[in-house]
Amino acid sequence: MKIIVCKDYDEMSVEAAKIVAAQMKEKKDSILGLATGSTPLGLYNELVKMNQCGEIDFSEIKTFNLDEYYPISHKDDQSYYYFMNENLFSRVNIDPANTDIPNGEAPDAEAECKRYDAAIDASAGVDIQILGIGQNGHIAFNEASDVLHANTHQETLTENTIQANSRFFENEADVPRHALTMGVGSIMKARKIILLASGKNKRDAVRALTDDTITTQNPATLLKLHKDVIIICDEEAMG
Ligand code: GLP
Repeated sequence: MKIIVCKDYDEMSVEAAKIVAAQMKEKKDSILGLATGSTPLGLYNELVKMNQCGEIDFSEIKTFNLDEYYPISHKDDQSYYYFMNENLFSRVNIDPANTDIPNGEAPDAEAECKRYDAAIDASAGVDIQILGIGQNGHIAFNEASDVLHANTHQETLTENTIQANSRFFENEADVPRHALTMGVGSIMKARKIILLASGKNKRDAVRALTDDTITTQNPATLLKLHKDVIIICDEEAMG
């Protein structure tokens, strides 16, 4: 596990964008694993800038997103479907047919999870997976628990996550209680993983990545078993 500590959020975003851009230049049809939340926004803005000035090309890029609230409409401005279109897909030259996100509108959650895993398996595999981290160490929506799932599944959000994510909603009661998420096994299959963390409230979760213990009570610690993980964080998150 490599850790890059940056001065601040902007520097972190530039650092992450350099790595993603290098991958995209090396392999025009790279498969990117994308994350939502506030942390990757700076990275997406950097990628948009690079795309607009012709430095990187999304025309052959494919993407899989980590997770989505469930159930939720694509039109809901809190859906990850909406987020990705707003913050990245509509701003770069990506073919929408090459993007996939667990479908929050699917009538049958279990069938949707199976469809999603099959789509990932049928692809050449994720080249770079972008990850944020929850204050409680969750990755995607894999919540701290005695038991984690390897594959895409429906998850019940913890109180900590509901509270943390309520800042995007009018009321805490509006935060969906469930989500569809890639499992930790699917995340670990990515050839390279970049985890982004910014701010004091991520300090405990990030510190747990710096010793050699692994626990399902902090799902991000499982990343210690992966051979190519880069943690990019700011000084506030590292403490
Ligand atoms: C959500 C997402 C995670 C994300 C986390 C942290 O729960 N499912 O993928 O990492 O929020 O979000 P933020 O970056 O806004 O702190």
